[in-house]
Amino acid sequence: MVFERNIIVTGGAGFIGSHVVRRLVSRYPHYRIINLDLLTYAGNLENLADIESSDNYVFEKVDICDAKEVGRVFDQYDADSIIHLAAESHVDRSILDPLAFINTNVVGTANLLQCARMAWGENLEGKRFYHVSTDEVYGSLGDEGFFTEETSYDPKSPYSASKASSDHLVRAFGHTYGLPVVISNCSNNYGPHQFPEKLIPLFISNIVEKKPLPVYGKGENVRDWLYVEDHAEAIDLIFHEGKMGETYNIGGENEWSNIALIKVLCTQMDQKLGRSAGESNALITYVKDRAGHDFRYAIDCAKIKDALGWSPSMTFEEGLAKTIDWYLSNPEWIERVRTGAYQAYYEQQYTHR
Ligand code: NAD
Ligand code: TYD
Repeated sequence: MVFERNIIVTGGAGFIGSHVVRRLVSRYPHYRIINLDLLTYAGNLENLADIESSDNYVFEKVDICDAKEVGRVFDQYDADSIIHLAAESHVDRSILDPLAFINTNVVGTANLLQCARMAWGENLEGKRFYHVSTDEVYGSLGDEGFFTEETSYDPKSPYSASKASSDHLVRAFGHTYGLPVVISNCSNNYGPHQFPEKLIPLFISNIVEKKPLPVYGKGENVRDWLYVEDHAEAIDLIFHEGKMGETYNIGGENEWSNIALIKVLCTQMDQKLGRSAGESNALITYVKDRAGHDFRYAIDCAKIKDALGWSPSMTFEEGLAKTIDWYLSNPEWIERVRTGAYQAYYEQQYTHR
């Protein structure tokens, strides 16, 4: 079968990547989606079990830092586009092991850019290098104001500095070599399939097990939360209609201090688990603050709304309820993540075929 487009999605076995892959595979049967992922601790192919036998889906277990293998994938599938999500993505891990973040996020992105250049040569018609990034590159806000696409970069954690570096490299390849690049910077995502090291899934699973809820500092830090499928929709739209060379900020227009969010989560969990009011709240435990903890992120997403007609569609109440319901209905997913059993899935599914 000849496909209209051959799109590499890096990090497609991760949280956001798996939602993007599912959306593209199901909406565009005339596109071939090549999921390129190393399957680090954060990559879980079980996230894609429902679409893995689709004719327009392939999986390649490849490290984005491996020039030879990435080059092979570009050539083998005649890839005309790349949507790049693969990254080390957790701030706390970046504080413990910053060099892993430089390697994957900076060196890996540079390698992908170079491989795209080599594969595409002068023939850039219809080509697209779409880099998925974070609002954390802009640094930290006080009580007022919003990040716009013009806000100067001021990253403060090894994670955000590595993502900022990768954004700069993408723009530099666009500017210097004319590579057709586009970037989006998004706020905090939540939803099904998020690895339970991030705030919402960690706290959901701790509440289920009646374990302490470790709130960093005073819990006053503010984040803007977006339901993951709304992000996947924005990525689809930017991929198809975004202007090359441009940057789009994506946000949920949904700011919460951590402690306010946690209290809502506790109330919803008590109701869903049939526990008495206040039971989960009692698990809240204030712990030492994260080093260099950014105070507030908030996105002005007027540009993507005006230029592409996107806006977040899920209310926080609805999104949080859907997220909780998913985790409560899939305890085996959490269990397999926790025990590492999910990592055997690849062997089982792919190596003996
Ligand atoms: P994630 O940690 O859930 O998934 C990352 C994926 O990348 C995993 O499947 C992992 O196996 C893969 N990967 C890691 N290193 C790799 C390598 N060397 N080669 C190939 N694959 C590799 O991350 P996520 O939360 O889904 O985030 C995806 C992207 O979106 C990241 O680039 C992140 O910076 C960005 N982002 C995330 C958020 C958020 O709230 N989670 C918000 C804005 C932007
Ligand atoms: P996180 O989900 O790690 O995302 P990010 O750091 O990229 O925003 O954390 C969201 C917020 O929750 C952040 O302010 C740190 C805080 N937090 C806690 O208070 N306790 C925790 O155990 C975690 C993981 C996060």
